[in-house]
Amino acid sequence: MSKDLFSTIEVAGHLLSNRMVMAPMTRNRAPDTNANAMIAEHYAQRASAGLIITEGTQISELAVGYPATPGMFTQAHVDGWKLATDAVHNKNGQIFAQLWHCGRISHPDFHDGALPVAPSAIAAAGDAFTYEGLKPFVTPRALELSEISTIVEQYRHAAACARDAGFDGVEIHAANGYLIDQFIRDSSNQRTDQYGGSLENRSRFLLEVVEAVGNEIGFDKVGVRLSPVNAFNDISDSDPQNTFNDVATALSGSGLAYLHVVEVDMTGATNPDVDMQQLRDRFDGVYIANGGYDKNRGNEAIATGRADLIAYGIPYLANPDLPERFSVDAPLNQADQATFYGGDEHGYNDYPVLETA
Ligand code: PHB
Repeated sequence: MSKDLFSTIEVAGHLLSNRMVMAPMTRNRAPDTNANAMIAEHYAQRASAGLIITEGTQISELAVGYPATPGMFTQAHVDGWKLATDAVHNKNGQIFAQLWHCGRISHPDFHDGALPVAPSAIAAAGDAFTYEGLKPFVTPRALELSEISTIVEQYRHAAACARDAGFDGVEIHAANGYLIDQFIRDSSNQRTDQYGGSLENRSRFLLEVVEAVGNEIGFDKVGVRLSPVNAFNDISDSDPQNTFNDVATALSGSGLAYLHVVEVDMTGATNPDVDMQQLRDRFDGVYIANGGYDKNRGNEAIATGRADLIAYGIPYLANPDLPERFSVDAPLNQADQATFYGGDEHGYNDYPVLETA
């Protein structure tokens, strides 16, 4: 029988009720870096997704790159996130925490004046979002070789915190121009040690993070997100097909929960430079596709086997009951851009569900 968005699938030892994933989305509603009752309510409203992936959660102080983003490295972070995991589990949902380090896409304002860190001392073009508005990205400090294992350890610790907070697993954010992606792509990585140069060297940091996190919480509880064609945050690679084929191959064979691929640019545009099927073919596990899918394209990707699950971002932001709406072909709420980043319940927890009367 042909599969579609409403077919079940096992991920991380759980049978998901459908193949619709709530994509990770930064919402800047944790002023003290702790998840709170409002954030718990937001995810609980969306618990009918097969799987929820949280917004990025920073693994350390230096990982922070935006105002009011939540963390995953203190007991208070664990206690805050417990509200969200309990609320989602009470509604039979499954939720992974995304682990995030912004690297050079940060600003000294977040670190008492200390420079952000990156593989190489190369500034991204563009501006950081600080508490005082936009400020140009600074030239980051290149990480010392001896510091890299400390950051790997911070990912391990954050994964342990996520487990303690009740998450079903974690997603390692290796996409969208943040720290791990800065190591993978050659425009931002010009190191001459074992973390730069060859493909093997540029994916070493990611693989060490995967190894540390997998050993801590179980490899079947670990997903990885990549974005081979996303130029967001001024990132690029001279041979993205080859680079990301290699990363997908390297991630195979360790029994990961999934590979999650942002298949488009931040503008939603596809890019013929990378054929995502080649990544899918090289990875031996569950493949989540993300980027501009609607119901029909999602069903088609699953029916043809091009993807196992589909992650929806903005449609999920505006439609807490997205599976119910897809199942009856109901119209979708439109998302309000003005309330994406920061603010309160408005544009966050007040998108209406379908009337069932
Ligand atoms: C954002 O805050 O705009 C943002 C954060 C994480 C992403 C992409 C965009 O992966």
